[in-house]
Amino acid sequence: IKRIGLITSGGDAPGMNAAIRSVVRTAESKGIEVYAFLRGYAGILDKEYKVLKFSDVGGIMEKGGTILRTARVLEFKLPEVRKEAADILRELKIEALVVIGGEGSLTGAKLLMEEQDIPVVGIPGSIDNDIPQTDMCIGVDTCLNTTIEAMQKLKDTASSHERAFIVEVMGRGSGYIALMSALSVGAEAVIIPETPVDFKAIAERIWEERQRGKVNSIIVVAEGAASAYTVARHLENRIGFETRITILGHIVRGGSPSAFDRILASRMGYEAIKSIVEGEYGVMIALSRSNMIRVPIESVLSEKKELDMEILKLAKILS
Ligand code: F6P
Repeated sequence: IKRIGLITSGGDAPGMNAAIRSVVRTAESKGIEVYAFLRGYAGILDKEYKVLKFSDVGGIMEKGGTILRTARVLEFKLPEVRKEAADILRELKIEALVVIGGEGSLTGAKLLMEEQDIPVVGIPGSIDNDIPQTDMCIGVDTCLNTTIEAMQKLKDTASSHERAFIVEVMGRGSGYIALMSALSVGAEAVIIPETPVDFKAIAERIWEERQRGKVNSIIVVAEGAASAYTVARHLENRIGFETRITILGHIVRGGSPSAFDRILASRMGYEAIKSIVEGEYGVMIALSRSNMIRVPIESVLSEKKELDMEILKLAKILS
């Protein structure tokens, strides 16, 4: 293999740059050239790329976002558009494509390989941690750290003013960020898409805690479960004290990656190139029990990642 393509695709995640750096530098060490396309699949279709060398990826590891930029390219759902992309990759003599991204991006990669015979390797990058068969995705750890830092600050104000804060966090289809951040800050309640919400029970609990002398409450809600405004409407009259709403939104998707994400991304980028050199394609690099493993993208996409509901029980016991 002499030349590969590289994209970051879908929602950005802190650590993507560390993965880019690792892919480029490991590839160079094996004599492989990297054509890095801008804006995910859009850059392939627009033939917008840079050939990245060792020195081009210096000083990017600590940066949030992705230097290659990213996009959600909806037209890539069309087979004729995937064919167009594959033709361009062939024309540029690109022999394999590394895709760093979430579920949608991996689906595009899988179809490129199935329909167009383009060898692909995936690297899971998504703050939601909703990709099956990997313990962690790139960006999750940093996102959680940013989330709890913000919540900790809100707790100060919640205590000072004796208020309940309803904090909405990202997670359209997954309550992972909500649940883990709730556990990490000792939130009084967490509302996630995976389980039905019982506003009456939440209100009763907060009210009882207040009677016991607790002066603040944090209620975490995943955007995919309900909006913070809906939660506030349901709770305010029942709990009898002031609520405030904070929507953390995209704040938690940015920022310099944590040590964990830098290490994870560096290992995954390295493993992706190793997989290419060994001729193993159609796989996603995954973290399993501290090891780097390769799992078929097809099997990853055929599953849905389940949240560990014991953690929900734990969060309830500990707060
Ligand atoms: O997939 C990551 C994620 O941040 C989700 O948690 C969120 O729902 C979505 O992306 C938001 O996407 P966008 O930035 O395209 O609005």
